[in-house]
Amino acid sequence: MSGAAKKGPGNLKLLKDAFIITTGGTVMFAGHQIYKGNEKFYKEYVMPFFQLFDAETSHKMAVKAAKYKLVPKSKIPPHPVLASRVFDRDFPSPVGLAAGFDKDGEAVDGMLKMGFSFVEVGSVTPNPQPGNEKPRVFRLKEDKAVINRYGFNSEGHDKVYNRLKVREVEPPVVVPGIMGVNLGKNKTSSYPVEDYVQGVRKFGKVADYLVINISSPNTPGLRAMQGKDMLDMLLEKVLSERDHIRGRKPPLLVKIAPDLTDQDKIDIAEVVLNRKESLGGLIISNTTVSRPDSLKSPHKDEVGGLSGEPLKDLSTKTISDMYKLTEGKVPIIGVGGLVQVKMLMIKSKKGPPVIGKINRELSELLIKDGYRSITEAVGANHKTKS
Ligand SMILES: Cc1cc2nc3c(=O)[nH]c(=O)nc-3n(C[C@H](O)[C@H](O)[C@H](O)COP(=O)(O)O)c2cc1C
Repeated sequence: MSGAAKKGPGNLKLLKDAFIITTGGTVMFAGHQIYKGNEKFYKEYVMPFFQLFDAETSHKMAVKAAKYKLVPKSKIPPHPVLASRVFDRDFPSPVGLAAGFDKDGEAVDGMLKMGFSFVEVGSVTPNPQPGNEKPRVFRLKEDKAVINRYGFNSEGHDKVYNRLKVREVEPPVVVPGIMGVNLGKNKTSSYPVEDYVQGVRKFGKVADYLVINISSPNTPGLRAMQGKDMLDMLLEKVLSERDHIRGRKPPLLVKIAPDLTDQDKIDIAEVVLNRKESLGGLIISNTTVSRPDSLKSPHKDEVGGLSGEPLKDLSTKTISDMYKLTEGKVPIIGVGGLVQVKMLMIKSKKGPPVIGKINRELSELLIKDGYRSITEAVGANHKTKS
């Protein structure tokens, strides 16, 4: 490694990161198989290797691997049937990476290279903060799930922005693709609304879309911002800040929880419908604080947000309810179903090659059902029922 000969804190950091990635011995064969994206190799060796470490360490290792692009390049571009245009952006496929994996914007190029059609960085808070004490991420192996209580560990706006600003440079020097930035608030912030306004100001020019995350369960009081009056006031402020951005204005989306009452959903739909001309859409959903009876893992009672397989029905129901309540007039990005994927990649044990596989199978299904484009299939379930 020629860089190893150089001195200085930057190189030390690089060496440290490289050490994290290569601990365990990366031999040439493994490197080649990883690069090629051999599905069987991932299933039998790479993913079990990651499982040897605690959940947070393997998360960190995966981020560093993507940061240094030690990840396979997706081999076949998504079938054109998967392409869609949503809020004035062209998405080559509906499979994107949800917030929470690349919290500090280190791995955008690597994840795009792997075949994600869009990557959502964050949540990012205005000031750096460490998040909750460790351990704070738990695998629920028996339930194909994870509980996390990270609590918005973030390097803060400035550091993350400095990493991402390269995406503003023309001609692009980065892997092309769509990048969203998910905004959070500091734990001890006295003016939470201002935290989001600052986020819009900071990332408005670099992000292809921005997410107002008011649904993570690990920041006290955050979910209360989903209440009708609070949400309306918050949207007023962040939309007005967004409208002040010169040039291209990024769409704003609101990420909501799966633990809402029927009345909460009606209220959110009303606020969102009133602002449908200026709002980009909804992201549904964040993790749940509920604990389905079906859970078997010893970690099931850890405090935090549950994601993965046991969240699927709840998030699908929330998507369906919100689709109906907003009369199909507000774009919805679903998490856990079609679309933003994170835990699937980790929990299915198939690793990165699973992205190409989802794209392939999805396009086959659409073509088999006679759709010419994925846009035609949106809301199809509701249309047949009504
Ligand atoms: C470890 C972990 C960290 C997460 N961090 C964030 C976050 O910072 N901001 C956010 O909006 N969602 C975060 N999420 C929620 C995910 O983006 C996603 O909404 C949720 O996990 C449901 O999808 P899944 O079941 O496919 O994982 C996190 C999820 C996990 C598992």
